[in-house]
Amino acid sequence: MNKKITIAIDGFSSTGKSTLAKQLANNLGYVYVDTGAMYRAIALFAMQNGYIGTGNFDKESLITSLPAIRLQFKYNPQLGFAEMYLNDVNIEKEIRTIEVSSFVSKVAEISEVRSKLVEQQKEMGKDKGIVMDGRDIGTVVFPEAELKIFMTASSTTRAQRRYDELLQKGDIVTYEEVLKNVEERDYIDTHRDNSPLVLAEDAIEIDNSYITREEQFEIVLGLVNEVIKTD
Ligand code: DC
Repeated sequence: MNKKITIAIDGFSSTGKSTLAKQLANNLGYVYVDTGAMYRAIALFAMQNGYIGTGNFDKESLITSLPAIRLQFKYNPQLGFAEMYLNDVNIEKEIRTIEVSSFVSKVAEISEVRSKLVEQQKEMGKDKGIVMDGRDIGTVVFPEAELKIFMTASSTTRAQRRYDELLQKGDIVTYEEVLKNVEERDYIDTHRDNSPLVLAEDAIEIDNSYITREEQFEIVLGLVNEVIKTD
């Protein structure tokens, strides 16, 4: 049997990281972890408790409440991936709204939030055989990962993809709103003091503006096979 490796997938928002990560995990029989869902869950918790809203952000109360937040992934065989649970409640749908997207980067800047989640992520990956996606996976969570992918695409391509997804789900948003959110998140994600989104030295960059999901999957599967062979 092939040796199990750790695959870290980082990149800008809406570059299709989770689609690629799920394809890889299903193909290789690996565990898939969407770390963005964990940051989104904390943002939802802050919203539910009134710690964050338009024009207000009570950081201190959120930090004090962190020990009361329990996050779990539970595999849903019908969907073929693990759904996010916050204190035993399935919040998979709630965390995908534009409202959560608009607050999540602020929550992800807090170092106490990041240390709590990074610790949990390291624990989930300790046996390898994992595909994890996020912003700091190849740099902070698994700097020793055998394969690191960094995904990019133009902001307009990403906004269009995200807009189509939200429309399909029945959300009422404009393309301009989605583009603004994508650009704001890019700015915050790349400029924060704590674990900003950066290209790890040993990461392989993939710009998927002009390639299909299938082409991208074949390219990355090829890279995985090379690593498994030589490792
Ligand atoms: O991948 P996503 O769009 O679901 O991520 C939501 C937000 O969480 C994103 O704006 C940045 C943040 N994030 C992060 O800071 N570190 C991660 N490892 C994953 C996500």
